[in-house]
Amino acid sequence: MISNGIGTVTTGKRSICLFPLLLIGLWGCVTCHRNPVEDICTAKPRDIPVNPMCIYRSPEKKATEGEGSEQKIPGATNRRVWELSKANSHFATAFYQHLADSKNNNDNIFLSPLSISTAFAMTKLGACNNTLKQLMEVFKFDTISEKTSDQIHFFFAKLNCRLYRKANKSSELVSANRLFGDKSITFNETYQDISEVVYGAKLQPLDFKGNAEQSRLTINQWISNKTEGRITDVIPPQAIDEFTVLVLVNTIYFKGLWKSKFSPENTKKELFYKADGESCSVPMMYQEGKFRYRRVAEGTQVLELPFKGDDITMVLILPKLEKPLAKVERELTPDMLQEWLDELTETLLVVHMPHFRIEDSFSVKEQLQDMGLEDLFSPEKSRLPGIVAEGRNDLYVSDAFHKAFLEFGNILGASSDLVMRHFVNLSTSPWP
Ligand SMILES: *[C@@H]1O[C@H](CO)[C@@H](O)[C@H](O)[C@H]1NC(C)=O
Ligand SMILES: *[C@@H]1O[C@H](CO)[C@@H](O)[C@H](O)[C@H]1NC(C)=O
Ligand SMILES: *[C@@H]1O[C@H](CO)[C@@H](O)[C@H](O)[C@H]1NC(C)=O
Ligand SMILES: *[C@@H]1O[C@H](CO)[C@@H](O)[C@H](O)[C@H]1NC(C)=O
Ligand SMILES: *[C@@H]1O[C@H](CO)[C@@H](O)[C@H](O)[C@H]1NC(C)=O
Repeated sequence: MISNGIGTVTTGKRSICLFPLLLIGLWGCVTCHRNPVEDICTAKPRDIPVNPMCIYRSPEKKATEGEGSEQKIPGATNRRVWELSKANSHFATAFYQHLADSKNNNDNIFLSPLSISTAFAMTKLGACNNTLKQLMEVFKFDTISEKTSDQIHFFFAKLNCRLYRKANKSSELVSANRLFGDKSITFNETYQDISEVVYGAKLQPLDFKGNAEQSRLTINQWISNKTEGRITDVIPPQAIDEFTVLVLVNTIYFKGLWKSKFSPENTKKELFYKADGESCSVPMMYQEGKFRYRRVAEGTQVLELPFKGDDITMVLILPKLEKPLAKVERELTPDMLQEWLDELTETLLVVHMPHFRIEDSFSVKEQLQDMGLEDLFSPEKSRLPGIVAEGRNDLYVSDAFHKAFLEFGNILGASSDLVMRHFVNLSTSPWP
């Protein structure tokens, strides 16, 4: 996701804003096809017991509950998967706005919110009490019906099936998850089983206590391998130490080709307008064709560019030159975005797009704490009894990192990692 400086220009020449592929991907992906494989993708909830240790009940039942049925759900979409995907989208826009507020106005932003939601859903599986409550609230899982939220892990698996397995062979959307646990700790079997079935996250034992640095390198190597070398050094030095017990890793990697290619010879130097109003001359590709496009409120232009295979698209949002990008960002809600997407119509256009490459990484912890996810990161307050055997309560998440990478037009990757630490100083932990 880009707040500034990089993007596209359609028909007129304006500064731009480009929205995250993965956020849009949830709306963009189309029909589900049958899958003959006997696995989570074809399973029914009763076939797979994915009941977490604790279940959350909202004290005051949300007034909006049940209203979801009025909204139109795309064809061939499971209603519960749809609900979950909407919750993820609400989290995505809320998180984006927090991040945008915390960053310097001239910085670009790029992230995969789905990657963050998935990594934290894996901790939700073992969470109880206030830790669970805050996870439900911050990730907007409390906005969905109880039936769906009780089996949220099951529907996450279904969502993943839909996203990753149904992607047309002409593009590659790969998500890889893994748990790295300290070899001296006994992890809850149920937790490991669910996490493997649902998230495909096997537990790999490492020697954090004996060799923290080597373990860090092993994990970074694994991430690099899963993203074809695009995402490296996610976990910074010193982030893992002898108190670390568990590291959760989620990676998303996307590689696609435009359905309608920009041919390299159609490139010339053109002016590109940055969010601060300055302009610079950059190599700009262009092509003429029919694309789904609309000029929406206050002259903002919305353009959808499909990838080959037609199941994944990129949506570009380009504010009018006079309208500050920050204002568009602040006003953006999932409902408004959906409305815009519904209004797009095939239009003959000349699309100008700069060459670019973007990489962003940040600690997710600060943003999430700011959004109300506090207990999970607190040695004193964290409650994660479902993760380690015997329900020990001395676990907390010490940090969470996210790194995402995009090369214009064909490659996108993201990795979200949570480093969990064993809180060993039991004297300050009220629940040993
Ligand atoms: C946490 O929740 C469990 C069951 O939901 C309850 O028995 C326990 O008392 C709670 N613990 C705290 C510290 O609130
Ligand atoms: C990733 O690991 C697999 C198996 O260990 C190996 O075959 C493959 O070559 C590796 N790929 C990269 C890009 O390092
Ligand atoms: C995959 O993409 C090709 C080419 O765009 C298209 O003809 C085909 O119908 C798509 N298949 C699926 C399963 O979406
Ligand atoms: C593991 O977690 C499950 C609930 O998810 C619980 O019923 C079981 O007692 C736990 N096992 C151990 C050994 O703590
Ligand atoms: C536990 O940590 C607290 C605060 O960091 C410290 O004051 C105390 O001495 C520690 N206790 C032990 C047994 O290490």
